[in-house]
Amino acid sequence: MAVAGSSTSETPARLLQGIAEASLAEDSPLTPATPKQRGLSEGIQLYARISMVGEGTYGKVYKARNKETGQIVALKRMRIDLEREGFPITAMREIRLLRQLQHPNITRVLDVVPEPGSAVYVVMEYMDYDLSGLINHPQWSPDPAQVKSLMQQLLEGLGFMHERGILHRDIKGSNLLVNQQGQVKYVDFGLARSFHHAHMQELTNRVITLWYRPPELLLGTTLYGPEVDIWSLGCVVLELFLKKPAFQGQNDIDQLEQIFKLLGTPADDVWDKFRKLPWACYMTPATRYENRLRAALSARATTSAIDLICWMLGLDPSTRPSAQRCIEHRFFRESPAPRPPTSFPVAGDWHEYESKAERRKRKKAVRQQPA
Ligand SMILES: Nc1ncnc2c1ncn2[C@@H]1O[C@H](COP(=O)(O)OP(=O)(O)O)[C@@H](O)[C@H]1O
Ligand SMILES: [Mg+2]
Repeated sequence: MAVAGSSTSETPARLLQGIAEASLAEDSPLTPATPKQRGLSEGIQLYARISMVGEGTYGKVYKARNKETGQIVALKRMRIDLEREGFPITAMREIRLLRQLQHPNITRVLDVVPEPGSAVYVVMEYMDYDLSGLINHPQWSPDPAQVKSLMQQLLEGLGFMHERGILHRDIKGSNLLVNQQGQVKYVDFGLARSFHHAHMQELTNRVITLWYRPPELLLGTTLYGPEVDIWSLGCVVLELFLKKPAFQGQNDIDQLEQIFKLLGTPADDVWDKFRKLPWACYMTPATRYENRLRAALSARATTSAIDLICWMLGLDPSTRPSAQRCIEHRFFRESPAPRPPTSFPVAGDWHEYESKAERRKRKKAVRQQPA
């Protein structure tokens, strides 16, 4: 069994307990609690599952109630196959990062509980919605002050992460949670990692969900930093204004084409930088496009909102602003002042998961209608 520092006499249950404890320990800024306080002795039985609210790469996410305190929480079940996969470095890293990054705009981890057998549960504060579910809801249309508040909170959370040397690398609506108080918080640090401003290291370019992936990653760069997250967040902001994802490519080449169709083919001085990227020779666009972003947004956003979006979606990564510079943009100083959204079309529980289930149900009903 490929578990660091384990002895063969240890049972998987004991190892999972160790993993849960280790992910709560060390450089955690929280005061270490006793196993009893953390619920480790009670285990997962302490929580009563209410419903499923997410289904992702690692496993499922449930809404649940702490039977002792009545607190509503989210349980993210991370399947850990010690026999096949060995020590779960990715899962541990995700939990550690979520624990270290304590900020009002980053989802709080309350506990980590092993499930005898094959999983650990990350217990988190429960968030009623995610931005993907909300944007897809036909009756949700936030007003300009609410959009501004969401943007401000998202930039503050991102600035905090970047200042601490962490790239998220999977920013998209389903990883941005919203509660009924109108707070928005990052979740899902499964692809996150640290970076150094001064010493850039080579990183993998197979990160970030396709529709939110910046052009330089599509063209194969392995040297990048916080500007990749700024691009993804720019896509989310654009989605808030357009009410649909801006670039819905079918594959890498199509994705790049979609980007150029809206933002224009890069000007020659910028394109030269692109041409030096590893995959540029396979992906050179056949058609030249003009920038249509301003026209597409003119009826929906103010000039300064459009300026900020254009800046975040700079084709040349070196021109993209930091999160801090975005926060200082005049868009946030002009009227209306940011105001968190506090009324939602559904009373609670509306994530990408419920939104997709509803869409499937509607499609099925249409198919079953007599012709
Ligand atoms: N704390 C939470 N509260 C409410 N819903 C959550 C919470 N964490 C995750 N979810 C929901 O579960 C989904 C999957 O969780 P996520 O952490 O993104 O896992 P994955 O790595 O599988 O994408 C999210 O898109 C979100 O809708
Ligand atoms: Mg996710």
